[in-house]
Amino acid sequence: MSILLAASFRVHRSGSRSELLVLIEPDGTGVFREIIGRFNNAHPQTPVRLVEGPPSTDAREDMYSTAFLAGSSAYDVVYCDVIWIPKFAAAGWLLDLTGRLSGADANDFLPADLEAGSYKGRLYRIPAFTDAGLLYYRTDLVQRPPETYQDLVAAASRFQSADRVGYVWQGKQYEGLVTNYLEVLWGHGGDWISPDRRVLLDSPEALEALRFMKSSIDTISPRGVSTYTEEETRNLFQNGRSVFMRNWLYAWPLLNSSDSDVKGRVAFIPMPHVSGGMRAATLGGWGFAISRLSPHADAAWEFIQFATGPEQLQELYSKAGRIPARKSLVPDYFQQIVKNARARPRIPEYAQASDILQRWLSAALADIVTPEDALRNAVRETRAVLGE
Ligand code: GLC
Repeated sequence: MSILLAASFRVHRSGSRSELLVLIEPDGTGVFREIIGRFNNAHPQTPVRLVEGPPSTDAREDMYSTAFLAGSSAYDVVYCDVIWIPKFAAAGWLLDLTGRLSGADANDFLPADLEAGSYKGRLYRIPAFTDAGLLYYRTDLVQRPPETYQDLVAAASRFQSADRVGYVWQGKQYEGLVTNYLEVLWGHGGDWISPDRRVLLDSPEALEALRFMKSSIDTISPRGVSTYTEEETRNLFQNGRSVFMRNWLYAWPLLNSSDSDVKGRVAFIPMPHVSGGMRAATLGGWGFAISRLSPHADAAWEFIQFATGPEQLQELYSKAGRIPARKSLVPDYFQQIVKNARARPRIPEYAQASDILQRWLSAALADIVTPEDALRNAVRETRAVLGE
């Protein structure tokens, strides 16, 4: 069996290629290209080639998974979302990097981000950026930031107008929708999948959370939210067209940049809650791993050390707003939120569980099924996947 596998791994390997491929998000600011250019000048023998993929995490996870399943060594460096590691590690697709970090680095990287890169006690992913979900609001309109979802609805209704909506969020059928739902769900005191793999969506809290999201559409949120990802919402909010926005940390420096219409008129808080629930931010973030099929594992490790070094991360922060996953570099105003961010379930079946939830949340938001039926179906399908 192992001989067969090893043979099939070799099939797609392009024997003479000496460049390292990494698939990342669209490099809008060009900062990734600059950093990689610097690395390549110093490493002409094994230069890194950037492949800019689609913006959504789901689409890039599919691309990596498809390559791995085909036994292809197309990508050497794996630029991973926090949620990918259990699946990729359990499948044996990543090189075990345990013990490679220096003591200083091991102490400086944020513990939650290191944990998110680990599976069964082994480290597979070196953190680069950390992330957390926030509620942004306009300080020139909203005097008292909302505590509860009722407060959010009240303030959004009060300050929306003909050319300004109340609240924008990410409602498209993709991973972002799951993170938006989780924050509302946690704020209502519910949860999705417990650490011991029980599916918890058949609760009154889960139903209330979904009902809230659905009820926002056409009242405080435009119908279009069910097609929005991060950037559509940021553009609207940054152009002064919304009172509130749920988005990740990266939006903050951009909202305060010189070409932003809302510069100096924005603040953020963690998402609201109801009594019995707690304000919660989803932990997000990105880091680098090495494909177990890469013929250039040593060069890949050199690149990862370079890319996650303080200087490069600082540059990615100042030019693209990505928050370094190093304690020493997280800006003060994000320390608290980063420390309290909550992880999504760390299970190898994460992509499947998320896909099920995305599908049913989306069907409920689009009025194709009732929220009750959507959750009932999501619970049944998720239990089948998790073997409950
Ligand atoms: C951000 C987060 C990532 C999350 C994604 C969802 O990129 O960093 O963890 O999965 O958004 O859209």
